[in-house]
Amino acid sequence: MCLLICICGIIFYPQNIRAYAIISDVNETAIFLTGNELGAIQPCGCSGGQLGGLDRRGRIFECVLPERRMIIDTGSLVEGLAEQDLIKFNIILTAYDLIGYDAVRLSHQDFEIAEMLGSMQADYLFKPFTAVAESQKPPFVTKDLVTENGLIRVMVAAVSDAREFDFNSVFSCSGKGKVNIAIMDNCDPNAISRIRSAKVVDCVICPSEADEPVQISDKGDKPLIITTGRLGKYVVKLNVLAGTCDHPDLRFNAIAVDETLKQDEALVSLYRVYQQLVKDTGLLGNYPKFSLPQGLEYVGSRSCRMCHGYEYDKWSTKAHAHAYNTLVDAGVEYDPECVICHVVGMEYESGYVNETSTPHLKDVGCENCHGPGSEHIKSGGTKPPADPKMTCLHCHTPDHSAEYLGNESEYRKKIIHWREPDLADDVKKK
Ligand code: HEC
Ligand code: HEC
Ligand code: HEC
Ligand code: HEC
Repeated sequence: MCLLICICGIIFYPQNIRAYAIISDVNETAIFLTGNELGAIQPCGCSGGQLGGLDRRGRIFECVLPERRMIIDTGSLVEGLAEQDLIKFNIILTAYDLIGYDAVRLSHQDFEIAEMLGSMQADYLFKPFTAVAESQKPPFVTKDLVTENGLIRVMVAAVSDAREFDFNSVFSCSGKGKVNIAIMDNCDPNAISRIRSAKVVDCVICPSEADEPVQISDKGDKPLIITTGRLGKYVVKLNVLAGTCDHPDLRFNAIAVDETLKQDEALVSLYRVYQQLVKDTGLLGNYPKFSLPQGLEYVGSRSCRMCHGYEYDKWSTKAHAHAYNTLVDAGVEYDPECVICHVVGMEYESGYVNETSTPHLKDVGCENCHGPGSEHIKSGGTKPPADPKMTCLHCHTPDHSAEYLGNESEYRKKIIHWREPDLADDVKKK
């Protein structure tokens, strides 16, 4: 077999569709860390430049040879215990298996789900391990990595309570040829000072409050204290510098998972499997619904047409009028997490349920912004449409519409469907 070339990028092996990973620096040894996925399998694609996506993440790992890298997830795979979270949980573990993770540390909630779903027994190549102590399974994993100066042993332990954790007995020794990492449930000053005084831990991973990973400890301080970020937007790469002195040195890097990284076909297919499961489970039809005030009902944009022909015709030429089709094109039209902002009234009774029973409520329609129209129509227009009315920001959030804030008036100009030039910005503000 021909030797892989030493440029980081993706090169196609002749006559083979599957991309081979190319190595940026054959001498590089690295520990990759992710965590707090919180169910973010893929960015929604609502606006450009979004970071994340399990289908792109693997490209970053592939830049280091398998025998020179360790890939660990530090846990919190999903947000809660809802049905969709459980589906995501298995999908994410399967994805980690495909990507080549060495170990996944499960948070307490992850562990609960894993037991419920039988994921602990599943035949993964990596080991799920957890800080929920079981006598015969000590909460740590190890891997020997190749470096320029021979093997080093990486040991990663999950610490749920630093007061009870005996750092010296788990990390039996430190120093030459060892890298010891502690994944912490909490990083209060007491926990950190216990770790410092044990003098056997090289790197401490603390819970994340921000999407971007950070190095908390000062440059050059030991141990290195870091977070992994959230939502899969970044990957932490700890370069292991074994050559310089007795003790391996760790260098922290945060690498963005951005759109320049090529998608992995296997993970793209897995996302389709996920959407199929979401569809088959009927999550959309079971979405919990509030009742509307005063017996109001949604009637659909077409019902407004007979009296507001002008407004209707204008609206139908705008992006809002094909918001549902956008989801169909992306193959996500059964996913409540997407549908909620791309249709009318999904979280209310008489609102959107699915394509067959409520086709009149597809797309961002009149009643999203003006409120449910039943009484307005019954009254021949004398009673104005009532609450709940959504404002632009309900849907054009920073996560889903990065450009919106600061460009409100441009956005508003693009949706003008009214005759009078100077109406209020939001229906609510009038
Ligand atoms: C039977 C005819 C009729 C239908 C159907 C109808 N409207 Fe109206 N609508 C009116 C009349 C009449 C007025 C008041 C006159 C005007 O200002 O145009 C009005 C006014 C409005 C206004 C301005 C209210 C205000 O606060 O000044 C909005 C917004 C509106 N309609 C939205 C809708 C929406 C949304 C629908 C569909 C759910 C709808 N209308 C269906 C007749 C209708
Ligand atoms: C119910 C959620 C929702 C609300 C409320 C909403 N939007 Fe949107 N908006 C969307 C969705 C979804 C799209 C994407 C439609 C598509 O292309 O499929 C969109 C697209 C747009 C676009 C097109 C962007 C482009 O560059 O093509 C503009 C402009 C826009 N919205 C303006 C507004 C304004 C102004 C308001 C408030 C008056 C508003 N929206 C309220 C969901 C919403
Ligand atoms: C909080 C509301 C919200 C949710 C939830 C949401 N979207 Fe959107 N989506 C929007 C808005 C707003 C836009 C228009 C953004 C803009 O143009 O600024 C949009 C636009 C889009 C677009 C069109 C982008 C383009 O190039 O025109 C796609 C595709 C999309 N969304 C897919 C999804 C998917 C997939 C999900 C679920 C994973 C989802 N959306 C969930 C609000 C939402
Ligand atoms: C994305 C939100 C949004 C959607 C969707 C939308 N509108 Fe509007 N509409 C507005 C805003 C904002 C205004 C201007 C401010 C106002 O009058 O409340 C407006 C103004 C109007 C007016 C003029 C109100 C007046 O006081 O003169 C009418 C009538 C109207 N819309 C009807 C409709 C109809 C009918 C539809 C569907 C075919 C529709 N709108 C879809 C947000 C929306």
